Amino acid sequence: MTPVTVRVPAKVNLQLSVGPRRDDGYHDLVTVFHAVSLFDEVTVRPADRTSVRVTGQDAGLIPAGRTNLAARAARALAASVRRSGTSAVHIEIRKRIPMAAGLAGGSADAAATLVACNELWQAGLTQAELREVAAGIGSDVPFALLGGTAIGLGRGERLTAALAAGTYQWVLAFATGGLSTPQVYATCDRLREAAGAAREKGGAGVASEAGGVTEAAGAAGAARGGRAARGGGATETRPTAGVAKPALSTELMAALRSGDPAAIGPQLRNDLQVAAVSLRPDLRRALTAGREYGALGAIVSGSGPTCAFLAADARRADELAVALTGAGVCRGVVRVQGPAPGAAIVTVEPG
Ligand code: C5P
Repeated sequence: MTPVTVRVPAKVNLQLSVGPRRDDGYHDLVTVFHAVSLFDEVTVRPADRTSVRVTGQDAGLIPAGRTNLAARAARALAASVRRSGTSAVHIEIRKRIPMAAGLAGGSADAAATLVACNELWQAGLTQAELREVAAGIGSDVPFALLGGTAIGLGRGERLTAALAAGTYQWVLAFATGGLSTPQVYATCDRLREAAGAAREKGGAGVASEAGGVTEAAGAAGAARGGRAARGGGATETRPTAGVAKPALSTELMAALRSGDPAAIGPQLRNDLQVAAVSLRPDLRRALTAGREYGALGAIVSGSGPTCAFLAADARRADELAVALTGAGVCRGVVRVQGPAPGAAIVTVEPG
């Protein structure tokens, strides 16, 4: 069997609206995913036993054993196609997407592995069937298969392609270290609970219009309740009962149809941003610097800590990247464009 290589993009969320925590611990979302041109590459080849080798960005930090999302993806696909004979593969991941960065890098590698193994084994699963397997691996995995710009509902796994015109120029600013997604969601719940309690007591100035919490209040809340946040929320009572059901932003949808980055910038919205900034107050400096240097929109990507800045055009994005680097507000920057295509086979190496 010939090795197969798949290229897969990172994502940012143009809208990430988070509903109350569900009984299964997840949150119903309304999100707008946008794939960007920062790619990992995954090669799979037959092997005696399944193994993972990671090179590149954050390679030393990424688990290479059975818990690796790519290894899980290979097992999940083998199970779903009831593969007879060996399904062991060696998975080689060349990473450019940092880990625990809010860019869905692990999910991207899982999606790439699904596409690669589907080809390697000639399993013949359709995109829709692959997406079903992907949803069982992680909430962001189906989108990494699809790419482009898409609306995500449920945990984020129920996807519809969005009507979006144009190509957008982004700067991604990487932070030192990562953030744990469950911890960021738990912090979001806790800050909302605190805001709700303050409202009930008649406390003013804590709740924001977005039905969430202001960044300043968030930072104070995180400082007060750091222990609960580190605990991952497992012992919390139902914290978000009063949280409104999220809705798709019609303003963002109209802006995307127009293809005008100046219209999109002000519509970027992330309900997890307050929680991410409360856990990593240094992110506020990066966001402020980006706005000062001319970004049309500045947002924490997903659960963070990467910050994404939308620029008016390629030249301004280059300037912004230089300015952010010079300001020393991040570990590094990359210039990317969106939308980028989803996981796709790039080479089928001769045997
Ligand atoms: O689906 P995935 O395994 O990527 O999610 C990681 C964690 O993020 C979940 O365990 C949960 O804590 C949180 N999450 C959530 N609601 C979502 C997606 C993720 O609470 N819609």
